[in-house]
Formats: sequence, C-alpha cells, structure tokens
Amino acid sequence: MKKFNIYITRKIPEIGLKLIQKECGGYQINPHNRVLKKQELIKAVKDQDALLCLLTDKIDKEVILAAGPKLKVISAYSAGYENIDLKTATDKRIVVTNTPGVLSIATAETAWALMLAAARKIVDGDLFMRKGKFKGWDPLLFLGQEISGKTLGIIGAGRIGTEFGLMSKGFRMNVLYNSNKVNNLLEKEINAKKVSLKTLLKKSELISLHVPLNSKTYHLIGKKEFALMKPTAILINTARGPVVDENALVMALKNKKIFGAALDVYENEPELTLGLSQLPNVVLAAHIGSATTQTREAMARLAAENLILALKKQKPKNCVNPEVLE
Ligand code: DGY
Repeated sequence: MKKFNIYITRKIPEIGLKLIQKECGGYQINPHNRVLKKQELIKAVKDQDALLCLLTDKIDKEVILAAGPKLKVISAYSAGYENIDLKTATDKRIVVTNTPGVLSIATAETAWALMLAAARKIVDGDLFMRKGKFKGWDPLLFLGQEISGKTLGIIGAGRIGTEFGLMSKGFRMNVLYNSNKVNNLLEKEINAKKVSLKTLLKKSELISLHVPLNSKTYHLIGKKEFALMKPTAILINTARGPVVDENALVMALKNKKIFGAALDVYENEPELTLGLSQLPNVVLAAHIGSATTQTREAMARLAAENLILALKKQKPKNCVNPEVLE
C-alpha cells in the first residue's frame, strides 16, 4: 500500500498498531502516557492522512483545520464520537469511523457490576474490611436492596442497552425500556415493555442509562426526573456523564431522594462534581465500561481496520458520516 502519514494520539493494544504497521508501513504515536495538550495535538496532526484518536481528544474545528487538506479519515477508538466535530469533518469530506458493537457486552457487564455493587453495598464493605472495622457477622450490617424480581428500567435500547437487558434473564425482572424504536429482541426474550421516560422513572427500582450524548440527551436526568423516582431507586450511568445533571444527582443522593447511584462516567470527566466523593450511597468507577483485554483488543483491531479501509478508499466497517463515501 502507498505510504501514508498516520497519527495515533495514545498507545492502544498492539494488535491495532501491528495492523497499521503491516498495512501502511508505519505511523507516529503520542510518546507520552497522557492525553495530548491542545497545542501538541494541533502540531501532531499537521499534514497527516489519517488520525486515530480517543474519546479524551477534542477533535474540534481548529484541530481538523490544522491537519490540512491531506486528512482523509478520523478513526475513533470508541463507540461514542461526540468529541469529534462531525460537521467540520463532513464538510471537509473526511471519513469519521468508530468502534460500536465490539464493546457492548463488556459495557453491559460493567453496568451489572455497578448495579449489584450499589444495591448490595459491596464497596462500603470492602473499605470497612480494609480498615479493620469488621467485628463479625451483624444482623444490621450493610443492608442493601435485592435485585431479583424488581423493575428494571433501561433508558436507550441500542446495542449496549439490549445486551444489558438480556443479561437480566436470571434475575427474573420486570423490564421496562425507553427508546426511539421498538426493540423486538427485548420484547420477545424478556417480555420488556416500551414505556415513556416518565413511566419508566416512576416505576423502576433500577434505572440504567444507555443513550449516546447529544443535544437531546444532555441532562436527560435532572432534578425533575429525580423527583419522579422511587426512594428505593438506583441510577446506573455507563453512558456519558453529561446525560446526568450531577449537581441534581448529588442533591438527590444527599437528601435520600433515591437509594443510590453507580457511575462509570462523569459530567466533567475526569473531575468529580463537588460533593460526589463524600457521599456513601454512590459507587464510582473510572470509565472502565469497555476495559477488558478482549474488548480493548477488538476495539484496536476495528479502529485500525476502519482507518486502513478508508485510506484505501474502501467502505470502512463503521462510518458515522456515510454521506462522505457517496
Ligand atoms: C466508548 O467507546 O464510547 C466508551 O465510552 C469507551 O470504550
């Protein structure tokens, strides 16, 4: 293949790097184990034919224009691509790709892990043990909520929401979902019912978010929505931080308006909203939804394949602005 200039904004699993090396004969990569600063990114993208980036890189108009006219593809090493200025990329006929599908199971499992941890106070127990506070079995120690047989509300029934819902089978739950489209698989397999957001919030004990971040989902869950929830409700967010108004969440948790929450993503990531880390009724994970070896390798391979196919002027496996391929 003809030699191209390729820039990778952070080290990803070897499998993706090797594929790019083999197919394109080389690449440049961020040498630091950290996100590039804006000016570093602007300098790095100059004259590149392809950019492989992470969700932590803000690929805005300034960065895209700084790349210059050779840039043909921006391959996101993530399912979400709200960090990329899609309009500018599309105007410049730059193909933008992402890695959906391969991370659905890992992310759904993370949501389950968080949900169980919040419902059964697993993290509190761990801290308690490490501090040597355990004095033996206690009838009233760390009383949580059972999950089996409860009402599970899934907000966003795309790939990840569907996997998450299917995993509820063993827990014999009453499943409600809110989505733009009817999800036949969830309806057939677990008898899930499509309901309005309001009904879901009012009826569910466990509420899990699986929507992408966009202007419609920004602060989808705020003060008004917390007011609708049951005092036994637990909110799980493995989607994107800004889907939840975290100041409203802090108030809901502080005032015991809901039982708990479990978060993998944050409104001002990596910063924590004031008050969040002081609350005992929230479990905090470090954006690890897709963090399994298999999944990260699958993402690296897919991001590399998308980039290579676009450079070869072939249809990438996942393109989020297909109009530029026409
Ligand atoms: C994504 O891909 O969008 C996740 O948040 C990280 O894997």
